[in-house]
This record gives sequence, C-alpha cells and structure tokens, in this order.
Amino acid sequence: MLSAIALFRLAASLAAGPGFCTDSTIAGPSRDLYCLPLVPVPGLAGVSAMVELAQAATPFGVAVTADGAQVHELVLDARGLPDPASLGPYTTYVAWAMPPGLEPVQRLGTVTNGRVRLGRVALDKFLVLITAERSADVGRREGRIVLRGLSPSTRLDAHGPLALPAGRPDEPRGAHAGHGAHGTSASDSASGWPMPPMIPGITMVQSLAGLEPRAEPWLPAASGGEAAARPGGVTRLSQGDTLRLVAAPARRTVGGHASVGYVFNGQAPGPVLDVVQGSTAYVEFVNRTALPAAIHWHGLRLDAAHDGVPGLTQEAVPPGGRFLYRLRFPDAGVYWYHPHHREDVLQDLGLYGTIVVRARGASGAGSPPAANPVHRELPLVLDDVLAGEEGPVPYGRETPTHALMGRLGTRLMVNGAEGWRLQGRPGEVLRLLLVNAASARVFNVALAAGAADLPLKLVGADAGPFARERWVESVVLAPSERYVVEVRLPASGSATLVNRVRAIDHAAGVFLPHVDTLGRIEVAGAASRPAAGDFERLRAHADLERSLGALHREHAGRAPDRELLLTLAVDSLPFRLVQLLRLDTAYVHPVEWAPTMPMMDWLPTGREVEWRLREPSTGRENHAIRWRFPRGSYVKLRLRNDRHTLHPMAHPIHLHGQRFLVLARNGVPVEDLAWKDTALVQAGGTVDLLLDLANPGAWMLHCHNAEHLSAGMHTTLTVE
Ligand code: C2O
Ligand code: CU
Repeated sequence: MLSAIALFRLAASLAAGPGFCTDSTIAGPSRDLYCLPLVPVPGLAGVSAMVELAQAATPFGVAVTADGAQVHELVLDARGLPDPASLGPYTTYVAWAMPPGLEPVQRLGTVTNGRVRLGRVALDKFLVLITAERSADVGRREGRIVLRGLSPSTRLDAHGPLALPAGRPDEPRGAHAGHGAHGTSASDSASGWPMPPMIPGITMVQSLAGLEPRAEPWLPAASGGEAAARPGGVTRLSQGDTLRLVAAPARRTVGGHASVGYVFNGQAPGPVLDVVQGSTAYVEFVNRTALPAAIHWHGLRLDAAHDGVPGLTQEAVPPGGRFLYRLRFPDAGVYWYHPHHREDVLQDLGLYGTIVVRARGASGAGSPPAANPVHRELPLVLDDVLAGEEGPVPYGRETPTHALMGRLGTRLMVNGAEGWRLQGRPGEVLRLLLVNAASARVFNVALAAGAADLPLKLVGADAGPFARERWVESVVLAPSERYVVEVRLPASGSATLVNRVRAIDHAAGVFLPHVDTLGRIEVAGAASRPAAGDFERLRAHADLERSLGALHREHAGRAPDRELLLTLAVDSLPFRLVQLLRLDTAYVHPVEWAPTMPMMDWLPTGREVEWRLREPSTGRENHAIRWRFPRGSYVKLRLRNDRHTLHPMAHPIHLHGQRFLVLARNGVPVEDLAWKDTALVQAGGTVDLLLDLANPGAWMLHCHNAEHLSAGMHTTLTVE
C-alpha cells in the first residue's frame, strides 16, 4: 500500500511533466529495459505513447511479489489521442495489461493525454493495450484497440531460435580447451575440473561443452582428521572482553557429501557476537586455513585500522599467523563478519558469523534494533553452496571462476547447514535476524504456512530500525544485506521457510517460478506465555523519522555530488561464450535470481573479466578514483548500472565504516527510511545514496558479489 505521502509525491512528480522514457535529460533507469513503447494501430498516425515501468514502492532493493514476480508501477505518457467519439460510439480510453496468452486481463483504468498512473503490474511478460470504450466503467475490453505494446521481457522469446545456431559443441580451443571434450566428471578431465552441476528442467546450451575455466581447480585438502562443524553458539562480549577466533578446516555436509569447509571456532556459522552498543571488545584472530586471510567487521563504524581489509588497512594474515582486532559498536543493529581476501573462497567455505549490537538505553540492553516484545530471537544466516554429484565444485586457485555472474550455489543453507529445523510453540512470536552471506544470490524469503504465508513485520535493516515498521509478504536480501522481521507462528501445524524466485530458461526464453525450501518450523506443545499482545501493532520511531525524514527532504531532490557507473571489461573469452552472452543481453531481468546457465556462469575467470566502478566525469576507474571528503559531510552518490555491457546484472554495493540512506531507486523516492550499508542496484537501474561520512579513515566501496569483488570491483574513499 502506498502511504498518503507517497501518493502525494507520486502525484507531484506526475504533474511535474514528462518522465525518463520520454525526456532523455531525466536520469532514470535504462530506457531499453524500463520503458514500453506503445504503437498505434493503422489509421491513428500522430498518436504516440510510452509506458514507464517505474520502480514500485518497496523497502527492499527490488520490488517482487511473495512468489518472485517482478512488480512495476506503470505510468502512461500519451500524446495526440483524438476525442474518442471521433473513432466511433466511444466516450473514453481504457488501458489493460495481460500475459502473452491474453488471459487473464487486468484493467488498468481510464487514460487521457498526458501522464497517467496505471497501477501495479506483476507479470513476467505482458502486453499493454489501450482501447476506446463506450463507458469508463467497462469491466471487459469491448471497444476498438488504439495502442498496443509488449513488455521488454517479451524479448526473451527470441532467445530460443537465436540460440539454436550456437547449439553445437565447440571445438576445444586455446587455453580454454578441456582435456575431455564432453567431460562430465572429474575423471574425464586431466586438469581436475568436474563439470558444474546442471539444473533439472532447464534447457542446456551444448555449444560450450569441452571448455574449462582458465584457472587451476582448488578445494581445501582433507587431512581426514577434521571434526564436523558444530552448530554456532552465542558469545556475549562485555566491555573490554577478548575473544579468540580461530579459522580452521572442518567437515561439513553438502548435498549429502562430506567435504572440507572452513569455520570459526569449530562452529558453522561462527559464534554470534552479542554486544551492547557503545562497548569495545577485542578479537584475536588466528588463521589456520591454507590461505592468507583477515576478518572484516561488516557495517561496524569502527576504527579504520581494525576494518580487516588486506591491502588497505592491514597485511593479510598468513596461514599460521594472528591479528588482534579492537572492535567498537557505536550503532545498534545486525552486522556480520567475514574474510575480505578471496572472499569468493573463504567466505563461501563457511567463514562468517553474525554480530548483534543491542541498543543501550533506559530499559537496559534492549533488543536490536527495536525492543518489541517477542518470545525468541533467532539469527538466521542464509547461504548457498555450489555442489554437484561429486560434492562442492572447486574454486579457481589463482583467480575466481564465475567471475561474470558470481557463484550461485545449488544447495541452500541456513546457519551453515541444509534442512534447517526449529521447534516452535503455538502463537510464539519470533524475531528473525536475517543475514545474506551468499556470494552472489539474492533471496526472496517467506514463511509459508498451509495455503497462505505468515505476515512478516519488517522492523530493521542493516544498521538499525526502520523509522516505520510495516508488513511484508517476503523479504528480499541481496548479498551482505540484513533485515529484521518479526513473525507470529500459527496455533498448530508448521511453517516452511522458502525462497521463491523467477528462474529464466535462457535457451527456451521463458520465466519459470522456482521455489527452494530452506527449512521448517514445527509448531507443537503448549501456547507461548505470556501472549505477545501487541504483535499486530506497527510502531514508528519518532526521532528516527524526524532525522531521516529531514535528510531525505533536504537531499532527495538535488543533483548528486558524485556518480559511479557500474560497468564491465572483458578480454579473450571463448568466442562461443561471447556470442551466447551477446544474445542474452537482448533482455536482462532486474535481478538474476537462479543459476540457470551453469557453463556460462562457470567459465569466465578473473583473468578475462574485470568489473569496474567508473567515475563518468573523470573517466577514472576503481582505485584510480581516490575520493576524499571532509569528516561530517553528507555526500549524495548516484550509482548507475551500465545496461550496455556483455553481462548487465544487479550489483549489491557496500561502503565500509560508514552508513547511508537510500534516497531513490530508478529515480523514485524511497519511502521506507533506515540506515543501511549495502544497496542493490538493479540491472540497468539507478540508486541514489546519501552517505553519512562521519568516520575518518580510508574505506573500501565495492560490490559485495564475492566474485565481482575479487574481479576488481572496488575503490577507496577517504574521510579526513
Ligand atoms: Cu561485507 Cu567489504 O564487505
Ligand atoms: Cu557486482
């Protein structure tokens, strides 16, 4: 539901004249992906119209339904429509949306010349028709079609026929050639690469068979003596306490196979650090892995020297080495820790843990980020691991594989294991602290109970509470994002934690609803006492609403201070792969939710792929940018995601050691205000951030897709 303020703003922006589809001076998302041109039927020359696929209101980085369909707010901009009476017995024009099968039809309302808001559409592919009708309240289309158009997503239709010529096995060529031309298992390939697992039900493109990534396969060696990882516990750290955190190999089970992962203190995930806002604690990190490592304390506004970024704030800790971190916790919220050197390997192997910073206050240690009464609080770290018949797919030793898309896994995990289970009680109210620790996957999680989903009360984001709580059906988390939700369990039965998304079968050119089950809550026993009485109530934090609202009002409407284009350079990828990637850019979905192109995803390495942050005004890229800002400044940063690359895709952009407010997505003001440190920029989209630069030091700004980070997508910003 749009709030009154949102409606007012939208109405104001509508009245303000043309939108980004018709006015190229307006900085909006890619017109090619977010505009739907309408074509007049013969005999109506002079009529022109465009439908904006505008950003729909959402507290998350992308607007999707609980079952994963993309949601757009449609805005029509029409010119030259004649008086309907001049076309026949008509009094008005009406807009309609429908899937390519033409049923069911969604009435979007009456339209006139100028800009008209048509409402929300959540269809994968669709048509928009404008018809002349006898009366404004027709429920079905009866009159004459005047304008028609197809959503950009219908361009997927062409993928099938276009992909056919590329559908023959490639000759092994160059350094990419595998030793087993049709290898399907490790034993077929002298280089040691097993083929990546194929996805059941998805058309495979055969033409890449025989190719392998230009990297040596690597997995941690098994000594045989590794203990199985234990479930993670909670470690309370009081003022001045020191925790020893040892990263070491452990046995973990993925897809039924025992393999070697890396964990902190024998636990998967690492211990939850439970601390009070304003305190200081120490962590002695001991590296018993085979790789250089360090620990980054994601989201904390701590001292730069303790931020754990090898090459910037410290030297990487060699195997066998140690490092003492001093941690400060100035802000209540949910944070996390993970390595920052070959994050694509170390984090993916299981090195991560949650940090809960509890609000200090009159009530003593409150709960993060809001002190609503709940029966239980559960940190849930979401992750995915790429594993096939033979266990986990190796990493590239010197450079990441999956450097274009990022490594999307096939086995989904909660708290370091598959098949998460919880015993709940009737009516129990849970607070879930959700962290996305996956390398590249964006989750859309919901709790399904019978035919319906449990309503989720969204209370917190990365670095503290939302100014206003609200109900959501599902939670969208990009890599490294955190959200806090509260949920009341039903009186009986069970609830299933699901990830519902749209997968794309690229060769067939179709969207496929895709559901993964992450875990299950069984409800049994006596009712929870006392009942959490005001669970239905949505709270607002007046102070936060005032302060964040004021920042939003002051900065949302002004020009950005800085801009970054998120773009890509590739070199010497196999020709057939480039050909397929090109075909695939005809349409790009806002988010790539599922790994439906296992070979295409796997082959590109950090040798052929460089992801770039580019400052358009200077042409500088990545570490050549070198921004400096005075301490205490608010900087408005516009992130623009380049649609014209070989592989446009969403990027979760993270800034270390500071916090920011998301002001707008695709040019539309964001209504749900909260401090954050990571923001998802949709493919071809834009995001405006207001950086609160209060913490001195040199800080990394980067994409949190682990492979993109390893493939260059980072810069440094100095606050002095
Ligand atoms: Cu989660 Cu640069 O970090
Ligand atoms: Cu990225």
